[in-house]
Amino acid sequence: MILSVAFSFLFLVLGAALWWILDTRQRKLLPPGPRGFPIVGSLFNLGTLPHRTFHDLSNKYGPIMSLRMGSVPAIVVSSPEAAQLFLKTHDSNFAVRPQMEAVAHMSYGNNGISFTNGTYWRHVRKFVVQELLAPAKINSFQGMRREEVALVVEEIKKAAVAGEVVNVSDKVGSLIENMTFRFLLGRSKDDRFDLKGIMTEAFTLAGQFNLADFVPFLKPFDLQGLTRKYKESSKKLDAMLELIIDEHEQNLNTGNNRDIVDEMIILSRNDSSVNHRELAKLIDRSSIKSIMIDIITAAIDTSFTSIEWILTELMRHPSAMKKCQDELASVVGLDKMVEETDIPKLEYLNMVVKEGMRLHPIVPLLGPHEAKEDIVINGYHIPQKSRIIVNAWAIGRDAKVWGDKVLEFIPERFAESKIDLRGRDFELLPFGSGRRGCPGMQLGLLSVQFVLAQLLHCFDWELPLGKSIDDLDMTEQFGLTIPRLEHLLLVPNIRVKAA
Ligand code: HEM
Repeated sequence: MILSVAFSFLFLVLGAALWWILDTRQRKLLPPGPRGFPIVGSLFNLGTLPHRTFHDLSNKYGPIMSLRMGSVPAIVVSSPEAAQLFLKTHDSNFAVRPQMEAVAHMSYGNNGISFTNGTYWRHVRKFVVQELLAPAKINSFQGMRREEVALVVEEIKKAAVAGEVVNVSDKVGSLIENMTFRFLLGRSKDDRFDLKGIMTEAFTLAGQFNLADFVPFLKPFDLQGLTRKYKESSKKLDAMLELIIDEHEQNLNTGNNRDIVDEMIILSRNDSSVNHRELAKLIDRSSIKSIMIDIITAAIDTSFTSIEWILTELMRHPSAMKKCQDELASVVGLDKMVEETDIPKLEYLNMVVKEGMRLHPIVPLLGPHEAKEDIVINGYHIPQKSRIIVNAWAIGRDAKVWGDKVLEFIPERFAESKIDLRGRDFELLPFGSGRRGCPGMQLGLLSVQFVLAQLLHCFDWELPLGKSIDDLDMTEQFGLTIPRLEHLLLVPNIRVKAA
């Protein structure tokens, strides 16, 4: 008995020593970083807000840092120069998405755009950029957006007359949902099923941390019960998407105002499509459902959460709020509502949006990227299949770029600076950059600017009675995006006659 305990102990000590030697040898070539524990690596040291933990760690280990998340080697990138190396210089090696369990179950085995790779992804992405999210397509829905925003303004106006507190987070959230569903499916509501409820349930599930993605040998045990939940949720989602596609097929709209589902069905039926012949051969019903899911996931929370944070910052900075409203009064006029064509003339508002997205990039770690092949960058070995995590949140707080007032909300900093947020400048990456950069940037940015401008132009906003600026909680909640933990509650006062 004593002998077997002694042998087990010796075995453990030798195992740990071997792991230590191998780990040390391998780590010599990798970028510096925390050592972590056997099997789980640094997985359980990342806290509830990993972008903040990575930021703290990168202050210690540098802008290219390595760590292990379970059995997955990860490289964390935290400066504009480093981001440029990964997203521009060596973009082709990192424009790959890792495979995640949630996506495999809930996105038809990766048939969409956000998590596919290789030739299929290139064809889908080209189609999405050139057809579904092309400027002409976005413009053709201008009337729809005007209509939806006017409805919300009308609701808020009633609350203003009654002196009620408005849950701005809820209002803006459902406005962006309605605009996205009308663009995608041609309608925002359906009495037969809870369109939004089913989607929200699925996306909340997809955003949960899944241990099996990082420690694959645990997958068959389904310790968190997620595999079972993915299957249940995807069944409900599938039944709904099937019905939507069936109805579109029966009454296919081939006119100018066709929605995104119509566009995809037309492509799938027409394999002589000149521009997208290859994709037309590949796209099927699963691809259509998968692309629908991708667009809904990518479009709604990102735009709505950005508006929520920017409005919160404006409430905390009344002088910036006043400058925005003065600009709106002079460019648009207090007898009219804002039109999308006014947006390019609203210089201060555009600076406010940039500053808001610098401090609150809604996808703080961008989408996950993976190394296609082994590569040496800045003398460091980056192994094939490493998870590449670009910390856009940390980059927006790099004091070398943004100066010592880096944590303050100062839109004026963009008056002098040429830094833009569209992915050309690696100092500011709310939409990512390169081959995997956001294809919906134009629509996302337009929605944020237009909704924000309208809310600021039509109403003056106050905090509820008894609340002060210091009560505005800035705590973040981590998920697919990072919204505010608390909803934004404000009291509106009508400002514009036309409202
Ligand atoms: C304010 C709004 C938005 C923000 C901040 C945003 C941000 C992002 C970011 C950071 C990424 C990942 C980039 C990377 O991994 O390097 C991304 C990817 C993506 N976004 Fe957006 N996005 C927004 C709106 C939209 C909209 C409106 C759509 C579509 C209608 C959209 C569709 C997509 C898709 C499909 C991808 C995946 C692209 C790929 O993997 O090839 N996004 N977005």
